[in-house]
Amino acid sequence: MEGDAPMTSRTEFTERYRFATRDDLPAFLETLEDPAVTRWLWFAPAPPSFYEAYFGPLLDAQAEALARGRLPATSVFAVEDGDGGFLGQGATVAVEGSPGGFEIGFQLRRAAWGRGVGTRLAWFLGAYAVRCHGAHRLEGSCLVGNMGSRRLMTILGLQEEGRRPGFRLKEGQRHTELLYGAEVAALDGVRLAEVAEVLGLGPKDAARPDACWPASRAR
Ligand SMILES: CC(C)(COP(=O)(O)OP(=O)(O)OC[C@H]1O[C@@H](n2cnc3c(N)ncnc32)[C@H](O)[C@@H]1OP(=O)(O)O)[C@@H](O)C(=O)NCCC(=O)NCCS
Repeated sequence: MEGDAPMTSRTEFTERYRFATRDDLPAFLETLEDPAVTRWLWFAPAPPSFYEAYFGPLLDAQAEALARGRLPATSVFAVEDGDGGFLGQGATVAVEGSPGGFEIGFQLRRAAWGRGVGTRLAWFLGAYAVRCHGAHRLEGSCLVGNMGSRRLMTILGLQEEGRRPGFRLKEGQRHTELLYGAEVAALDGVRLAEVAEVLGLGPKDAARPDACWPASRAR
């Protein structure tokens, strides 16, 4: 991110996160066409119309909320490299029935794997949920075989809270789903604060979301 002081390698953010728009849908779909990316995604593979039906309304609602000066309940971000190249997407989703609960999710292009992009994205999503939405709890879920996702959630400080044997049916095969989560008070508050500072995420102010997320970053 421009003008950021270098920190440790894991939090030395070189990526840019911006609210995604419908213009990002082709890149989302291209990412989800890769069997390596969808290997452990319970809802994939699926036709493009399925992904459009899922992401399209979320992106519309996000654009509408931002246009009204509000933060979206479900925030979908595009992750870009320093040259504006698309690396993937990440999201925070307000959990129904859990006030202050936010679920995180992420899908990166295969070319972006293995160099800390996912780790930094997880920290960004956590810091965004905490600082901008005042999150009380963070959670996530993945298939038991998704070692990369499990590791990312662990790095963020989420604990395995449960498992649902055979819960997901993917391409004719049953998979156990793991549930991860933690109260924000149990997370590394110092690291979250560092990340928020580096990325310019301010304190929650419902009346002024621009104070939390600089308008220039919303594009
Ligand atoms: C999961 C994903 C986001 C990880 O992104 P990434 O940029 O490769 O992650 P990082 O480079 O930051 O690696 C983070 C850690 O996870 C580990 N890791 C990543 N992928 C792994 C894998 N397939 N198996 C085992 N460990 C893995 C890394 O070794 C690293 O561990 P370390 O910190 O102990 O060294 C990426 O692989 C992806 O987009 N996968 C497809 C979509 C998906 O499954 N999303 C999650 C949906 S629940």
